[in-house]
Amino acid sequence: MKKTKNFTDIYSYFVLKKNINEKMMKRIFSLLRVDSTFMTTSYNRMNDVNKILKKKINKYFSKKITICDFAVSSGQSTLELFLDLNKNKINKIIGFDKKIFITIYQIEKFIFLYSSSNELLMVEYNKQCLRYRYFFLFKKTEKILPRLFNRAYLFDLINIKYKKSKLLIPNLNNINELEFFEQDIFNIDKKYFNRFDVVRVSNLLNYSYFSETKLKKAILNIKKISKENSIILINRTPNKKRKNTASFFRKKNGRFKLIEDINGGSEIKGLMLS
Ligand SMILES: C[S@@+](CC[C@H](N)C(=O)[O-])C[C@H]1O[C@@H](n2cnc3c(N)ncnc32)[C@H](O)[C@@H]1O
Repeated sequence: MKKTKNFTDIYSYFVLKKNINEKMMKRIFSLLRVDSTFMTTSYNRMNDVNKILKKKINKYFSKKITICDFAVSSGQSTLELFLDLNKNKINKIIGFDKKIFITIYQIEKFIFLYSSSNELLMVEYNKQCLRYRYFFLFKKTEKILPRLFNRAYLFDLINIKYKKSKLLIPNLNNINELEFFEQDIFNIDKKYFNRFDVVRVSNLLNYSYFSETKLKKAILNIKKISKENSIILINRTPNKKRKNTASFFRKKNGRFKLIEDINGGSEIKGLMLS
């Protein structure tokens, strides 16, 4: 079969954890939808803001710090954040995303990719992604399918294999400073309150994704997880160009104070400061 634009081979990526290149990662993640966002990511999209963040960390912190990277997608940009910063300034970088843990079912030529909350994220048939044309048919039965898959007797009747995996790129496990957990920015576990010296939220808090009410809720939660005097970076990477629009803030007396804008600043700057 001819490879089409939608060809993904999610099995070789998520189960076999084969080496992947940028093109493959971009293609797979731009097909995965979470809330109203896609998990789209790519290499080196935050180089410009990481440089500035590094300077600010060196300026404001003398001790090792704990960083939160929200909405990590494949974790590629979290890895780059780690590589771009001064290692001896980092205690931990904790990466959060609403979807990280997955189960993959393989039934003959079908591959079903499920989130930890049993939401169907992707179906592939014969290495062909069924994201757009037929996906809705499987979506309609998404809650029933895993229950059927998990009935042991069915496994004998038809050839079903399954495997737990993560959406993250394979090479993150070896880095002690990096940890990843599922968290929803609209409902963050209290154990993370007042925990972070730096919070970065990249390509998530956009007006095109969420209503103002939801954005305000996310901002309140960022306020809760960040420490006094912490640095907050909110940025967005435009599609074609690699120049980020970004704003850096510091938390002072429980409020966010703008410290620097890049390329006009973040579109939610006003909400951050209100
Ligand atoms: C466009 S991607 C950005 C990925 C990465 N930060 C980057 O800039 O390359 C948006 C990410 O936000 C995550 N996401 C969507 N809704 C979320 C929520 N409510 N809480 C946490 N993460 C969420 C998606 O799973 C996805 O990984």
